[in-house]
Amino acid sequence: MQKNREQWNSKIGFILAASGSAIGLGNIWKFPYIAGENGGAAFIFIYLICIAIIGLPVLIGEILLGRTTQRNPVGAFRKLSNSSFWASIGGLGVLAGFIILSFYTVVAGWSLGYIFEAISGVFYDFNKIESAGIHFQTLTNNVTWIVGFTAAFLLLTMAIVYAGVQKGIERGSKIMMPLLFVILIILMIKGLTMPGAEKGVAFLLEPNWDNVTGETVLLALGHAFFTLSLGMGAMMTYGSYMKQSNSIMSSSLQIIFLDTIIALIAGVAIFTAVFATGQNPSEGPGLIFLTLPVVFTKMTGGYIFSILFFLLLSIAALTSSISLLEVVIAYFVDEKKWDRKKAVLIFGGVTFLVALPSALSFNLIKDVTFFGLNYFDIADYLASNILLPFGGLFISIFIAWIWGFDKVFIELKKGSESLFEKHIWVINAWKVFIKYFAPVLIFLVLLSKLGILDVIFK
Ligand code: TRP
Repeated sequence: MQKNREQWNSKIGFILAASGSAIGLGNIWKFPYIAGENGGAAFIFIYLICIAIIGLPVLIGEILLGRTTQRNPVGAFRKLSNSSFWASIGGLGVLAGFIILSFYTVVAGWSLGYIFEAISGVFYDFNKIESAGIHFQTLTNNVTWIVGFTAAFLLLTMAIVYAGVQKGIERGSKIMMPLLFVILIILMIKGLTMPGAEKGVAFLLEPNWDNVTGETVLLALGHAFFTLSLGMGAMMTYGSYMKQSNSIMSSSLQIIFLDTIIALIAGVAIFTAVFATGQNPSEGPGLIFLTLPVVFTKMTGGYIFSILFFLLLSIAALTSSISLLEVVIAYFVDEKKWDRKKAVLIFGGVTFLVALPSALSFNLIKDVTFFGLNYFDIADYLASNILLPFGGLFISIFIAWIWGFDKVFIELKKGSESLFEKHIWVINAWKVFIKYFAPVLIFLVLLSKLGILDVIFK
């Protein structure tokens, strides 16, 4: 056991930090537009199944690996397996952290920039999506604007991680998460009370199975990983600061519940307002930055709601980006014995360098593409569709087939004694899911992803 390794101060601190990691751009920016494009309620239904049968088992597994070893992903695998192959699987997670940060901080930077746009009152004169589109393009074409806000967002992320696990991440989450809930509830109430809101609710509740294809299932699974911060060791790292006496089973359920309910509430808040103002629900990634400015223009109180919305989005992104950076920092602190502060300064700088091409993908290097994708798209694709499911696959294989359930159960039981005594079937169900369902389903998804790559490489 390392001396003086930090721990969460309280169980609620861990839950808020971990759900802060889970709740992010994935819930508020990605989920509504993916649902909008893929059959609304039909997609949501498939997504919920993925969360339950793959997301929850893998989440439990990741936190367990972290809590047992009290290490970053590389150290965790190394400690339990003594194998450099498995350590390098952890290393892949650290790498994925950088890749996700490289596009995540850019979108988060737009969000931060849009708070200032909202305050300046520009969301008053976009009557058509085209004019909001031109405005977005003008901003993202402006290198100073986009690089400046990406850097500003990154500095906020670094400041929190710099302050440490308890004083930075835990304290920050305890302030930001309640604020996030309050803002989101206000926005939902606003959406639901707008005339015509029922069309938005119907859109979320009435499944349209015509839009559902095999690709939809893959998207739902990939998104389940992304939204729960799974597959690269973020939850493992947060789990490594957990006390052995806190229950992993109940914490995981609470994190999943919060993440899912927030995505659904965000969907309600956004689609009620979109339908009530006569806009189109499936505008792709532009839903937030193009459609919503029009929605704010047309709604009463749009000024204040636009500020609240982009504040919400930025907070959600911040509590997630700190978890991404923390994986990288934990690795250098645990394995290389670096001082946390030094690690944050250096790897914050490195993150800026890898984020730069993402930011410039919208202006200077717009035309530099690889198979039709720019750097930003490649980073997103590579991380969300390949590295995360890959990581999830290896995590479940490791737990079920390498670590051994006798040892797994000893660790899992800590803090969950009564569950083991009274409802052992829950544990047995988890065993079946992590042993068979998760690896097989993730493997199938990866195979079909590689099939898609075949088509590109042909
Ligand atoms: N879960 C976050 C979101 O929904 C993003 C995120 C944070 C993440 N940490 C992660 C995704 C680790 C994958 C892995 O926006």
